[in-house]
Amino acid sequence: MKHLTSTKDLTNDEILEIFKDAKEFLDEKPRDLLDNKLITTIFFENSTRTLSSFESAVKRLKANVLKLDISKSSSSKGETLLDTIANLNSMSPNAIIIRHMHSGIADYIKNHVNCPILNAGDGKHAHPTQALLDLFTIYEHFNGNIKNKKILIVGDIKNSRVATSNIELLQRFGLKISLAGPVHFMPNINLPKYTNLNDCIDDIDILMSLRTQTERHQKSIYASLKDYASDFCINKKLLKDKNIILMHPGPVNRNIDIDDEILNDQRSLILKQVKNGVAIRMSVLKKLILNNN
Ligand code: NCD
Repeated sequence: MKHLTSTKDLTNDEILEIFKDAKEFLDEKPRDLLDNKLITTIFFENSTRTLSSFESAVKRLKANVLKLDISKSSSSKGETLLDTIANLNSMSPNAIIIRHMHSGIADYIKNHVNCPILNAGDGKHAHPTQALLDLFTIYEHFNGNIKNKKILIVGDIKNSRVATSNIELLQRFGLKISLAGPVHFMPNINLPKYTNLNDCIDDIDILMSLRTQTERHQKSIYASLKDYASDFCINKKLLKDKNIILMHPGPVNRNIDIDDEILNDQRSLILKQVKNGVAIRMSVLKKLILNNN
C-alpha cells in the first residue's frame, strides 16, 4: 500500500507522472475517475486552502468526501487518535487525508488502516502536497527548465513543514536553495543562510515567503510581528523590477510576510499555486487510489 506522508514517498519519475496528469487537470473539468469512491478528511488544525483544495479535487474526480468535524467528534470526549482512525477505517474509505499538530502522526497511523494515508501537514514535519504543488508551479513557470534555478526561502523555516518538504523536494530536482530569516528561525542544515535580504536578492530566480509559525513557538519571540516585518517583509523597495517570481503557501500575513503592493504584482504566483494545488491533489488521489499496489 502506497501512502503519501512525505515527499520521500515518491520517486522523481512518479512526480513527473503526477505533473503530467496535473497539467491535464488544469482544465478544471470534472472527471469520473474516482466515481463512487469515499475519501475521508480529518483535520485537527485549521485550514483554508489545503482542506478546500482536497475537497475540490475529490469532487472534480466524482468521489464522495466525508469530512469529520473535529470540534463535533469524539476526540473532544477523550477518544484516542488511533481509536478515531480505527473507527473511520471500519467504514472502508478509499483514502484518509489527515492534518495534525504533531509531527509524525501520518506515519504513525498508516500501519493501522487499509487505505492510503495522505498527509495534509503534520506539525513541523512535512506537507508533501504543498511541496508538490510548489514544485509544479515552478516547473510550469519555467517550462520544465528548473535545474539550477535559484530559490530563496524566507521566514520561519525551522518551524515550517512547508519549508522542510520543499527543501527535500526542490533539491532533488536540482534547484539551488538558500534560506533567509532571523537566526532563531534557521534550521540546522547545510544550506547558504542570510540574515539580510539585500545580501542575496540579486542572485535568485524565485522567492518563497513563509508565515511566522507563532502557534508552534513555545515562547513568543516577537512583541509584535512588525519587528520581524521591518527586516523580512517582501516589498517593492526590495524587489524593484527584478525578474523574480514570488510564492507563498498561504495564509499570508499581509504587510508582515509580503507588502500589499507586491501581493498584487504580476510576479506573484500565489493564486496560481492555489489553482495548481487542486490539479496536483487530483493527480495524487488518482495515483494513490487507482494505481496503488
Ligand atoms: C501552510 C501549512 O498549514 O502548513 N499552509 C498551507 O497548507 N497552505 C503554511 C502555514 O500555515 O503557514
